Amino acid sequence: MKLTIIGSGYVGLTTGACFAEMGHQVMCVDNDPKKIETLLAGKIPIYEPKLETMVKKNVISKRLQFTTSTEDGVNHGEVIFIAVPTPPQPDGSVDLSFIEKVAREIAVCLDSYRVIVDKSTVPVKTGERVAQTIRRYAKPGVEFDVVSNPEFLREGSAVDDLMSPDRIVIGGNSDRALAVMQKVYEPFVAPVLVTDINSAELIKHAANSFLALKISYINAVAEICEASGADVEKVAEGIGMDKRIGRSFLNAGLGYGGSCFPKDIAAFIAIAEQMGTPFNLLKEVQKINDRQVTRFLDSIREALWVLKEKKIAVWGLSFKPNTDDVRCSVAADIVEALVNEGADVTAYDPKAMEKFQQLPWSSKVKLAENPIEAARGAEALIVATEWAEFSNVDLNELRDVMLTPLIFDGRNLLDPAAATTYGFQYRGIGRGITPAS
Ligand code: UGA
Repeated sequence: MKLTIIGSGYVGLTTGACFAEMGHQVMCVDNDPKKIETLLAGKIPIYEPKLETMVKKNVISKRLQFTTSTEDGVNHGEVIFIAVPTPPQPDGSVDLSFIEKVAREIAVCLDSYRVIVDKSTVPVKTGERVAQTIRRYAKPGVEFDVVSNPEFLREGSAVDDLMSPDRIVIGGNSDRALAVMQKVYEPFVAPVLVTDINSAELIKHAANSFLALKISYINAVAEICEASGADVEKVAEGIGMDKRIGRSFLNAGLGYGGSCFPKDIAAFIAIAEQMGTPFNLLKEVQKINDRQVTRFLDSIREALWVLKEKKIAVWGLSFKPNTDDVRCSVAADIVEALVNEGADVTAYDPKAMEKFQQLPWSSKVKLAENPIEAARGAEALIVATEWAEFSNVDLNELRDVMLTPLIFDGRNLLDPAAATTYGFQYRGIGRGITPAS
């Protein structure tokens, strides 16, 4: 099938590449000529495992094209996916101006029937507004349908998530459009849930909020573990073995970050407020998440006393492993708080250092070439992102290069018993303090 994706960011580009891989003829549109130039040259502007190879392969086989022209995109695709950003506004509600603009741009180019699909994460009822907007700007009599098809991919495993999704949600109010969408997803092996548009839109915000709730739940339990001497890792294992609960998203740590959860939870709170049905539970989820960073910084101050001029090593800058994304990264927030208090921070991240250097205050931070160099001469080490590489570091060598062997493991990545055996004082999240043996 001929498909068009408008917006070639994280979701748009990965979706386009995966559709092409499945045999569709895909045209990706973006209004940033530099981005399109990069993509045409076979390069991708983000680090995402497997994506670059897939993009290259499908560009060569001519199943994947890139353009800056919305008109070319609308002419090409029988289905047009909207995958543009939906950034937060200061009050937490969603800025829908990119969606509205694209809806107008599509409308003026429409000549014959098209299915217009919202892939961006949007508040419930956005599909209705998109349909009204297109109707207002399109030529009289031209036929189209609007469908909601939310995306559930995770950064760092986006290609696998898209190629083998847990489920495909299609929300539409027209049989004609639903039949077209079933054809789009025919090559994928996954359960398809068909709903009305409003339910599909709500599923996305409700799913992300529930995952954030799980994270805040275990972080609140971690606080009780610290106070009582229990180990949150064991508690998570014990409750996660119940199939009704499940172990995933019960990793206690510094809390959730990234470009999705903080924004989507705030948006869902704002949406509920607008509907007259306040969602106070989610406000508590946000509070617990913020408190994780405060508590962590307090524990560092408590151990080091004055942070000014203290040499601190930080492992990890991205908001999670396997990505170079530092947007709303808790790791970057912690580094910023430390340098603002005058600490002398040296950081290392396997992939995110280039993106980190684009942050306005990043020049206050030294960057190292590897984890050991970051820790050389340090009075404390913070594990801020759980990259697998960090768990393979030789603890003997690490202790030898540090000035004082103190580890604050914000992601419970290291083994406390091993760390103490090698002479470290180890503090994890919800695991108490393990003094060096
Ligand atoms: C999230 C959802 O998982 C995707 O399903 C969704 O499609 C996406 O948002 C989106 O809305 O576009 P993502 O933000 O890429 O994906 O990353 P996650 O793996 O969900 O992690 C989010 C944050 O939660 C990270 O900061 C991570 O470190 C944290 N987290 C995750 C925990 O602190 N504990 C956990 O147990 C799991």
